Amino acid sequence: MAAGTRRIKSVEDSIRDTDEPEHRLKKHLSGLDLAVFGVGVIIGTGIFVLTGVVARDQSGPAVAISFVIAGVVCGLAALCYAEFASTVPVAGSAYTFSYATFGELVAWIIGWDLVLELALGAATVAVGWSGYLNQLLADIGAPLPESIAGETARFNIPAIAIVALMTVVLVLGIKLSSRVTAVIVVIKVAIVLLVIAVGLFFVKAANYSPFVPPAQPAEAGASGWDAPLVQTLFGFSQGTFGWGGVMAGAAVVFFAFIGFDIVATAAEETKDPGRDLPRGILGSLAICTILYVAVSLVVVGMQRYSELSADAPLAAAFSDVGLPVFATIISIGALAGLTSVVMILMLGQSRVLFAMSRDRLLPPGLAAVHPRYGTPYKITIGTGVFVAILAAVAPLEELANLVNIGTLFAFVLVSIGVIVLRRTRPDLPRSFRVPLMPVLPIVSALACLWLMLNLPGETWWRFVIWMLVGAIVYFGYSRRKSRFVTEGGREDAGAANAARRD
Ligand code: ALA
Repeated sequence: MAAGTRRIKSVEDSIRDTDEPEHRLKKHLSGLDLAVFGVGVIIGTGIFVLTGVVARDQSGPAVAISFVIAGVVCGLAALCYAEFASTVPVAGSAYTFSYATFGELVAWIIGWDLVLELALGAATVAVGWSGYLNQLLADIGAPLPESIAGETARFNIPAIAIVALMTVVLVLGIKLSSRVTAVIVVIKVAIVLLVIAVGLFFVKAANYSPFVPPAQPAEAGASGWDAPLVQTLFGFSQGTFGWGGVMAGAAVVFFAFIGFDIVATAAEETKDPGRDLPRGILGSLAICTILYVAVSLVVVGMQRYSELSADAPLAAAFSDVGLPVFATIISIGALAGLTSVVMILMLGQSRVLFAMSRDRLLPPGLAAVHPRYGTPYKITIGTGVFVAILAAVAPLEELANLVNIGTLFAFVLVSIGVIVLRRTRPDLPRSFRVPLMPVLPIVSALACLWLMLNLPGETWWRFVIWMLVGAIVYFGYSRRKSRFVTEGGREDAGAANAARRD
């Protein structure tokens, strides 16, 4: 195990790898492209679906505060991501950062962990997409049978179709992907602004009272492994509503912010990473936080929180005030919006796997870049097949929390990593620096850990099992095939780093 932590890939090696002709990605993206990418992946199931469930069951009108809390936690992590991404502008995001700071073993752990966020996240949203599609088809009187479409399908054909289509777009090129995203983002943001502007006229002050509904004891069902781990471990019962409910709600709506970190996975395809990455990451997060708070305030003002729909709260709130046409427009916007989320989560997944196979932790042939399109096509197609299978058959609703825990774990490591890299490589040029070092990254890591503890014990079990499978793959395959072993010489990187420190 010790060797795994000594195998630190120097930042210079990481950057040099990006120049190998067979592994070179095209550098097409600007800061604006990145911010658009960010918004394209961030706004999705979270705001279109989770707002209703969380307001109704956990936070009441204070769901807006849950969004603020989750947004602040993500903002702290985003600052850490921005420093890392501007220092190590290499595909692979948290995986690459960990390789440069903690060594190969932790890098593997994080790469494996990111599958939970990216592939599982894409599959979850693809199933949600299928649900919205079937809702729209039902509106025009032509729904597909529930066994092959919607959120409870046994073999989800629309989910497979959207994953397949997005895979083709991704193979054809990142510039095309960013154009598709730009169009979708315009539609999505327009819908969100429409909800805010029109909905404001239907807000009733009475619906905001009480803003934080009084705490109620936990339901009998929410015990054991169903309950937040913090409750099981410390006997600290949060129940529902009250400030405890607002916190537990924050752990759920965290899903709505997932994606800003994916901007960092496109680092290598960015024209001027030092300037553009911080702008893209922080800009997209700031825009989404403002939109989320505004939308949630409007929606809970339009309809009493206890009556909000769990499936399509935004559309349902408009139906409720007698505007069914707006409800249909919102559903179409949601459908378009979820499309880009699926695409960019898969983009992030393929770039992380690309970086891992370039380092030989996965079979190196997978990292081949298409001679004409300049994209890692084998990995992209492999990712598409994996996500399609998951989306077709997996009971994803229960697994959505797994996406949250996987992402939060990556945030914890990135937050700690930024402190470690400042100490081990103070010499590296950093065009963006986290303020209040090391307090801010420490607060970021603790805040992410706190949200993780607010997830159910069952989610923790699944997380631990997934990571154990990853350990078996690492010790059975990746450790022996790693570039450190097959090419030699790089094992000294850790020593070189130490020498630089002295
Ligand atoms: N943030 C993305 C969503 O809400 C994953 O769908």
